[in-house]
Amino acid sequence: MQLSRPMRGNLRKAAGLFCCVVVLYFTVQVFISDTRKQPQMVNAQQRYVIGNDNKVYEYNRDMPLIFIGGVPRSGTTLMRAMLDAHPEVRCGQETRVIPRLLQLRFHWLKSEKESMRLEQAGISDEVLNSAIAAFTLEIIAKHGEPAPRLCNKDPLLIKMGSYVIDLFPNAKFIFMVRDGRATAHSIITRKVTITGFDLTSYRQCLKKWNSAVEAMNNQCRDMGRSKCLRVPYEQLVLHPKQWMGKVLKFLDLPWNDSVLHHEDFINKGISLSKVERSSDQVIKPVNLEALTKWVGNIPEDVVRDMAEIAPMLSVLGYDPYANPPNYGKPDDQVAQKTKDIQKNKTEWEKKAKEMFSMGWDNGGDTGMDKDPSDNPNMT
Ligand code: A3P
Repeated sequence: MQLSRPMRGNLRKAAGLFCCVVVLYFTVQVFISDTRKQPQMVNAQQRYVIGNDNKVYEYNRDMPLIFIGGVPRSGTTLMRAMLDAHPEVRCGQETRVIPRLLQLRFHWLKSEKESMRLEQAGISDEVLNSAIAAFTLEIIAKHGEPAPRLCNKDPLLIKMGSYVIDLFPNAKFIFMVRDGRATAHSIITRKVTITGFDLTSYRQCLKKWNSAVEAMNNQCRDMGRSKCLRVPYEQLVLHPKQWMGKVLKFLDLPWNDSVLHHEDFINKGISLSKVERSSDQVIKPVNLEALTKWVGNIPEDVVRDMAEIAPMLSVLGYDPYANPPNYGKPDDQVAQKTKDIQKNKTEWEKKAKEMFSMGWDNGGDTGMDKDPSDNPNMT
């Protein structure tokens, strides 16, 4: 069969194109198999801790870690002590280094130049994340006794909650929320230095509380209901049984009455810090002493402008114009324990003094010191 000249030309072009595709295909295959042949680093180290009970406790990124977060002075230590009382859980003291490491990563990635340099040096997201996860896990697993369920209470970590969930896909957050007026009052009267908080001004402290709690609340919302549970401090202390029931259910932990008697386990399973600022309050049973201490102590002009200063109060369900709001009626047991504590005030003070004779320096709390580089996100 005779082909016309244009058809012969087209046929030649098609054959040429076909050859190119074949050559390209084989080149890519050779490249891929070469890459596959490249040596891979494998972390063969088995991670485990041997407990006092001689049991082996393995730990890895897939374990269901528990994280407790919130604006400092929102009852985070109480929550961790109540969980620490559960036989399957160990939280322990604030680690301080974990939020700082995560902040560092945040700063590296915020700078385009630094990100580019890291990428060039082969420090991809994957490499960085696996290193940060390994560091975080080592600290959480080894800074206290081993336990089937490990927990961390570095209150500000929740500001990076979504990233923490990326590192530990089965982790869950307990987000402690408290009336911002009580939190501000606690920070000011107890002189808890937190970067960005001006201890001489309720107005300024409430504004800072508002922006911090908003950022945390957004993270909690982004993580979703299956990953983050909001626990209002007021409801926890008014109805500890009901709320600990919710918390344990959320964490897939069996109910255990010990969580309602955390005070019985202080220094017998619950280790308290000599330098954390909530230790002397948390040695007591759950009580109502701190609920409304702020009422009558906030300057009138601040009380008047409360809704504008701290709009998150309403978002979180607190009436900005009620002084105090009606938080609800306490369970009988809590009311009784509060009365007992007030009756034995001097004994409790003595006990606290004996336990924490070192005292506190004002900059020693919550992983946030006077140096703004410690906690740039709070500012
Ligand atoms: P006040 O400073 O208003 O008293 P955090 O641990 O997040 O910093 O929170 C500290 C707040 O938790 C303190 O508030 C403290 O009273 C409260 N708290 C600690 N232990 C408690 C307990 N056993 N019962 C009720 N509240 C407690």
